[in-house]
Amino acid sequence: MDKIRIVGGNELNGTISISGAKNAALPLMIASLLTDETLTLENVPRLRDVAQLTQILSNHGVDYSVDGKRAGDDSLKGQTLHLTAGEIVDTTAPYELVSKMRASFWVIGPLLARMHQAQVSLPGGCAIGTRPVDFFIDGLRALGADLDIDKGYIVGSCKGGLKGARVNFPKVSVGATHTVLMAATLAKGETVIENAAREPEVVDLANCLKGMGAIIEGAGTDTIHVQGVDRLHAYRHAVIPDRIETGTYAMAVAMTGGKVLLEGARADLLDSAIETLRGAGAEITQTPEGLLVARNGNGIKPVDISTEPFPGFPTDLQAQFMALMTKAQGTSRITENIFENRFMHVQELARLGAKIQLDGQVATIEGVSELHGAQVMATDLRASVSLVIAGLVAQGETTVSRVYHLDRGFERLEDKLSRCGAQIERISA
Ligand code: EPZ
Repeated sequence: MDKIRIVGGNELNGTISISGAKNAALPLMIASLLTDETLTLENVPRLRDVAQLTQILSNHGVDYSVDGKRAGDDSLKGQTLHLTAGEIVDTTAPYELVSKMRASFWVIGPLLARMHQAQVSLPGGCAIGTRPVDFFIDGLRALGADLDIDKGYIVGSCKGGLKGARVNFPKVSVGATHTVLMAATLAKGETVIENAAREPEVVDLANCLKGMGAIIEGAGTDTIHVQGVDRLHAYRHAVIPDRIETGTYAMAVAMTGGKVLLEGARADLLDSAIETLRGAGAEITQTPEGLLVARNGNGIKPVDISTEPFPGFPTDLQAQFMALMTKAQGTSRITENIFENRFMHVQELARLGAKIQLDGQVATIEGVSELHGAQVMATDLRASVSLVIAGLVAQGETTVSRVYHLDRGFERLEDKLSRCGAQIERISA
């Protein structure tokens, strides 16, 4: 299995091009199931999760093709995918495929909406908490679906199709919002989604669905109105830049010092993380080309954060921010409010010399003046990149194993960082 080897101590300087957002690309790809015409997606990142989802979609009968590289394309440019669900030949999403990635469970919405039936395995994904699916079940039942759980599968049907309804989520859920939103586009009548997720990825999905002919208002607020239509059609859509990748590299620069242009990044997608980073001593400026991030001279200041749904501080940047705080000049507290088991990076950061105490959902981090390189293990996607950020400043050599987690969500991480001066390489076993 591949490993990442880092020798810490170098500043980051240069340009990192920000990829399309994984967490926007996945629901957008799933939206292709809603129409028999071609959905073309530009700026899709080259990631393991994307490849995994194409397998799942092709099992349902989706044809897909990828535009090849064109002369003059940057090697890090996103790919263009063409997805055509001309005929859905199979409404089952099997355990072997769905268990590898939680987002693939979301196919249940479009399958019910278009085919009026679906058999979808209960999901897997990063082990960051129990991650139930009750909101999906309640939401789709409200739209008129009959759903049962049988041998690890959700088996659903809706004779005559889904019907618009009021869906009120008890807690904000990104995946349940995506799923009910997609399902509602082809339901009869109006659906109102209350306590909807406001994440930029929901807005991106809604914009694409609107381009495909859906009638949607309020995406980006906590109440979304959808007027069902009979059919959706072909559309071409570009995936928004990845705000989590942006925040991750911004934290890496705040950690190492130096100055990096995060090309294509948008500040409006991560206001709260930017404010937090400024508090920690980073200088961040939006330019027409992207976000310019620097930390000059002064040390890292401690800042307390709590993870919240958007527009709050994202849980997907919590581990990276903790890595930064391990070298702050003082003590900080991080409260994880979204997932109950998202502190698995703590023990690995401790192997590098970090001083972190855990008390339930709260981590107290006492900044240290030096981290020391060590062998560490990636435990989930965002946790693993936090180890890379720590490794960039740790004295000596850090080796991160189980990097397949990283490959799920960070496109050519070692290329992007080494182009900016980091001593980082992938060792293929
Ligand atoms: C999405 O996961 C993201 N995944 C996650 O990113 C992200 O951490 C999460 O949203 C929160 O922002 C993708 O977009 C592919 P949720 P999702 O439903 O939709 C509870 C990454 O690293 N809940 O918003 O699965 C749930 O347990 C990944 O890229 C229920 O109780 O998250 C959690 O506590 C990891 N019942 C909370 O809601 C349900 O039916 C929010 O989860 C559904 C969710």
